[in-house]
Amino acid sequence: MVAIDVSHTEYEEEAKLYLEIIRRYHSEVKRAVEFGSGGGSNAYYLKQHFSMTLTDLSTDMLAVSRALNPDCEHIQGDMKNLNLEAQFDLVFIHDAIMYFTDKADLLEVMRNAKNHLNEEGVLMIMTDHFKETFRPETDHGGIDQGKRGMRYLEWTYDSDPDDNVTETEYAYIMRDENGRIYREYDRAESGLFSMPEWEEMLAKAGFQAHFERVEYTGIEGNYFAIVATQI
Ligand SMILES: C[S@@+](CC[C@H](N)C(=O)[O-])C[C@H]1O[C@@H](n2cnc3c(N)ncnc32)[C@H](O)[C@@H]1O
Repeated sequence: MVAIDVSHTEYEEEAKLYLEIIRRYHSEVKRAVEFGSGGGSNAYYLKQHFSMTLTDLSTDMLAVSRALNPDCEHIQGDMKNLNLEAQFDLVFIHDAIMYFTDKADLLEVMRNAKNHLNEEGVLMIMTDHFKETFRPETDHGGIDQGKRGMRYLEWTYDSDPDDNVTETEYAYIMRDENGRIYREYDRAESGLFSMPEWEEMLAKAGFQAHFERVEYTGIEGNYFAIVATQI
């Protein structure tokens, strides 16, 4: 298995900011599970502080994460109904909750998170936007590794402010190890809910919602983590 180095990416700072918030609500997290762990980039840093069980719908993403985090347990499953038959101190959902655009689905995720928490356990959800804070945005960046490279452009907008959805267009330009350049284009819809809507859904699942500001270096805007403690 090839070891991948993700150090010095933006994830290092993200994970540090999230850890500070997690510790404010639970100073002794020992076991955590991530729902929708993707490539495992935040887990790469968080696992240095507590054990992380990594779960994702996609077997391909689990394979990427296994290469980066061979020391973590990886399990395939849908966060709506996955059953690990275990309780954790923390359920972490980062950059994965926005796939849900329907409140009934989100409620299932929250109830399933609660089933995976021990009595003192907390749920932390990182969603990029709330109805109150959403602004159309453009992001770009990239990374180089040896001869390989990638640049991306993301454009997020809200075509209908009355629904619970935003749209994002993605353009990627990549260079492989032989110098071949290729392009990909993608589009996604993401869930957009107000803070009172989050509070209401979390209360239905047995949680109290807390909104914690997150200030990323070099990124303007109002970003908040949702920390849900059990009622
Ligand atoms: C952007 S990635 C998460 C990145 C990750 N937090 C990190 O730090 O690298 C989002 C992931 O959510 C997963 N996902 C989407 N819907 C899901 C679901 N219903 N259950 C579990 N995982 C899901 C996708 O397969 C994808 O791998």
